Amino acid sequence: MVIISIKYKNMKKNIEQAIIEQIQKEEHSSRLYLQMAIWCEINGFPGAAAFLYKHSDEERLHQLKFIHFLNDREGMALLKPLETPQSDYPSLKEMFEKILEHEKFISASINQIYGLTLQEKDYTTASFIHWFINEQIEEETLVRTILDKMKLAGDGQNRGLYLIDKELGVMAASGH
Ligand code: FEO
Repeated sequence: MVIISIKYKNMKKNIEQAIIEQIQKEEHSSRLYLQMAIWCEINGFPGAAAFLYKHSDEERLHQLKFIHFLNDREGMALLKPLETPQSDYPSLKEMFEKILEHEKFISASINQIYGLTLQEKDYTTASFIHWFINEQIEEETLVRTILDKMKLAGDGQNRGLYLIDKELGVMAASGH
């Protein structure tokens, strides 16, 4: 008896590639926020450091979410080389502006994958990507709120920055 094994792939190659690239972007996000947390810790912003250490962990969870989904769908997650994250910032405010810019880049990337899933009629992956679309809305809103507070505190006003740093510490402790 001849057993013919046909491997049925659940996922199109172009979607698998897009997810592999997203895994790289989430891993880079995790390292970027880890490096930012280090900068905050040595520059007198313990609250912002706690917030960013936690955010770095969340990005690692996003990376793992993509990895498990791809493997479960008979694809294979691959890790790609990463660029060195920026390690120095002129101010806390400019760091958070960089975070917003980065999150907008991630949102655009997620939306691009979603568009691809619709084009390929891969509704299972489209449904999975929905979670990330909502997550990106939350993340961008959170960073915008922090930046608004920093603008209200005014550039270079140490008392205002001190209070915002305290608030970020409370946010990190309460699970935001
Ligand atoms: Fe996983 Fe902040 O994007």
